[in-house]
Amino acid sequence: MSSVATDVVKANRSGFAGACFASRRWQIPESRSMLAMPPAAAQALADLMPLLLCGEESAEFVFAAAVPELPKRVDPVLPIELARIADDERRHGMYLSALRSRLPPPADRGATRQATRFLRKLATTDLGVHLARVAALDASFCQVLAEICRPGTEIAAVPELAELFRRIRSDEGRHVRVSRRCAAALGVTAQTEHAERSWVVREFAALMTAATPAFAAVGVDMQRLLDRLERTSTRSAARGSG
Ligand SMILES: [Fe+2]
Ligand SMILES: [Fe+2]
Repeated sequence: MSSVATDVVKANRSGFAGACFASRRWQIPESRSMLAMPPAAAQALADLMPLLLCGEESAEFVFAAAVPELPKRVDPVLPIELARIADDERRHGMYLSALRSRLPPPADRGATRQATRFLRKLATTDLGVHLARVAALDASFCQVLAEICRPGTEIAAVPELAELFRRIRSDEGRHVRVSRRCAAALGVTAQTEHAERSWVVREFAALMTAATPAFAAVGVDMQRLLDRLERTSTRSAARGSG
C-alpha cells in the first residue's frame, strides 16, 4: 500500500471522512408514511428502484478497493477522493433504501434480475477498466437523474424526492471525473476508455428501455433519455458527465 493510501486508511479509521464531509451530508426526511404521489406513479417508481440502486453497493467496494492499488506517484488527492466516493455510495444506497421503504413493493422481480445481470457483465479483474466502466455507469445514471427530475415529472412534484435525486446527481458527476482520472492513472488509455464507455452506455440504455412503461408512468420521455445517453456515449472524455 502506498504511503498516501495508508494515510487515507488511517484518516478514515480516525473519523476523517465523517469529519471532513459532515457538512456535505444530507438526510432524507425520516417518515414512515408513504410518499405523497399518485398510486400509479408510486408503483412505477417502486418498479424502477432496482435500476436506480444499480451500482451503488458494488461501486462502494470498487472505490474502497482502488485506494491501495493506485501507483505511489499518483496525485495525492486521488486516494482521498476515492475514499470520499466510497462514502458517498454507501450513503446513496442508504437513502435509496430508505426511499424504497416508503414505496409499495415492486410489481415483480424482473428489474432486479435484469440489473443483476447487467452488473455481472461489468465485472472484470482489471481495476482500471472496472473504474472506466463505473465512470460510464455513473455518467449514464446522471442522465437518468436529470430526466426524472425535469419539471413536469411526478418526481419533480415531490420536493424532498427531487432534492434527493439532485444531490445524488451532483455527487455522481464528481464520481465520473475522479473515476476517469483513476482509470488513467492505472494505465487505461483514452481509446480503451472510449470503447468501454460506448459499450457500458449501450448496455445501460437497453436496461432502461426495458423499463419504458415505468418511466412513462413517472413522466419520463424515453426517447429524450435515450438521446441523452447517446450523447454520453459519444462525447469526449474531457467533457465529464455533463
Ligand atoms: Fe451513487
Ligand atoms: Fe457513483
